[in-house]
Parts: sequence; C-alpha cells; structure tokens
Amino acid sequence: MTALLEVRNLRLSYPSRGWRSKTPEVLRGVSLEIAPGDTLGLVGESGSGKTTLGRAILGLATPTAGTITFDGRDITHLGPKQRRSLARDIQVVFQDPYTSLNPTLTIADILAEPLIAQGTDPAEARTSVGRLLDQVGMPVDALHRYPREFSGGQRQRVAIARALALEPRLIVCDEPVSALDLSTQARVLDLLIDIQRRTGVAYLFITHDLAVVRHVSHRIAVMYRGELVETGDTAAVTTSPSNDYTRNLLLASPTADPDRQRERREARRLARSAAASA
Ligand SMILES: Nc1ncnc2c1ncn2[C@@H]1O[C@H](COP(=O)(O)OP(=O)(O)O)[C@@H](O)[C@H]1O
Ligand SMILES: [Mg+2]
Repeated sequence: MTALLEVRNLRLSYPSRGWRSKTPEVLRGVSLEIAPGDTLGLVGESGSGKTTLGRAILGLATPTAGTITFDGRDITHLGPKQRRSLARDIQVVFQDPYTSLNPTLTIADILAEPLIAQGTDPAEARTSVGRLLDQVGMPVDALHRYPREFSGGQRQRVAIARALALEPRLIVCDEPVSALDLSTQARVLDLLIDIQRRTGVAYLFITHDLAVVRHVSHRIAVMYRGELVETGDTAAVTTSPSNDYTRNLLLASPTADPDRQRERREARRLARSAAASA
C-alpha cells in the first residue's frame, strides 16, 4: 500500500503555562497510515489524544518528535505559506456545527471563502457553490440564508460542503456527528460514505463512539492514553479484538439486537466481578 498519510512515532506535549513545570505527554509515539480513498476510524475515550492527533495533522498543534508525511512529503513542520497551500489537500470537519460556521456570512459566502482564499476568481467561486450544496443534499435556495436558519444536521452538511470545496484528498472528521440526534447521525454518515465513493477522498474519522466508527471505517485504530493499543481491519477489530481495552469499548457500545445486549450485559457483569476479585 502506498500511504496517502503516514504518521510515524509522533509525540506531543503541549507547552506548559508555568515556568519549569513539565507537561504530560499527550501523544506517546503514535504511528498510523491511511491509503488513498480509505477511512481510518480513530476511536478512544475522551482525553485519550484523538483531537490532538487530528490537530497535529492539520498543523494546529506542534509535535515534539516524530514525522507526518502526506503523499510522500514531510509536513511535520510547515511554514504558514506552505500550510495554506496544503489546505487544498487536507481539510477538516469539526464536531460542533453551531460554532464552526461564521454566523455573519451567508451559506454562499461560507462556501466561496476557501475557494477565494486559494485564488479562485470570485465570480467563478460563486458558480461553484451551488454545485457544492447539491453534493451534500441541500437545496440551492439555502445559498442566501444564514447558518442560524438551519438545523444541526443541515449545518453539518454545509460544513462538509465547505470541506469539499477545494477537492481535498484527506478530510479529518473530528466527532462530526456527535452533536446530532441518532437519525440525523445516520444520514450524515451515509452522506460521508457516498461522497467518498464519488470523489475518492480519504477520511481520518475521529470518534469516541465505536458504533459510529464501525459503520464508516475500512480500518480502525484504538487510542488509549496517547498510544494506539490496536490497529486493524474493521471486521477484525470489532469481532475479535486482541486488546482488553478494545474489548471493553466494544462491550460499552450500544447494539440494536436484544440478544446481543443481554450477552453484553452478562459479559460486563462477569468482567466486573472478575476485576473485583482480582
Ligand atoms: N490546547 C491544549 N493545551 C493543553 N492541554 C491540552 C490542550 N488540548 C488538549 N489538551 C489535553 O490533552 C489531552 C488529550 O486531549 P484531546 O486530544 O482533546 O483528547 P480527545 O480528543 O481524545 O478527547 C487531554 O488531557 C487534554 O486535557
Ligand atoms: Mg476530541
């Protein structure tokens, strides 16, 4: 496999606020790869370092060691100008559709902004925005309205359209459906899968929710306290996890099947009593 994105032994500590106090390492030697057109699901409990890894890939957090390679090029430490040009290839969708869109801009302006920032002629950018909205299943009359006029799911569709504007090869999706209700979640996930089939974009899909990640990912990486404890094909990781932490995540994630639910409750109960007597 020729990787689109390759992360090798990445380490990161945030700068300390006080003088001389040492900050804990948030990423402790993370290595992963994403192939073109693939989805790697990154799953782990809150505070395990998932967002930090996404931010490092986007150039928003500075690694203390290790490398990030995109399409064969070392992007671990880029200057602002190189970073801006890399925005053509790597985009992001954040969790919160209420704060990630500028409330003072119309949807048309929000979608045209990344194009104009990359030097597209404004008139040409305006003709692209209708096509972008259509790609995410939004009506064109949305163009002249403001983010506050839309639901969370619709706003997240706009955020996805904005991420697609420059036809990136990788999108970092950081908990993109966690703020949405269940049925909206399913529709937005289906949209992301559909977009991938049409465009061949790769996703780093970050979530604390194993049920979500299972639905969208080709491969899954499990993060625990700044380290990947397990990486593998989705089916292998979710049906026969090799790691105890992954097994517990699986037991904690909801399933629609009542028999499976009963099995899991029993498994959790046994795990608890075994832990108590250990
Ligand atoms: N900007 C920051 N400055 C200092 N510490 C941070 C910052 N962002 C996150 N952290 C810390 O890094 C750890 C990992 O956080 P994060 O990457 O957000 O985890 P996750 O996305 O898995 O919930 C947490 O302990 C968090 O408190
Ligand atoms: Mg996070």
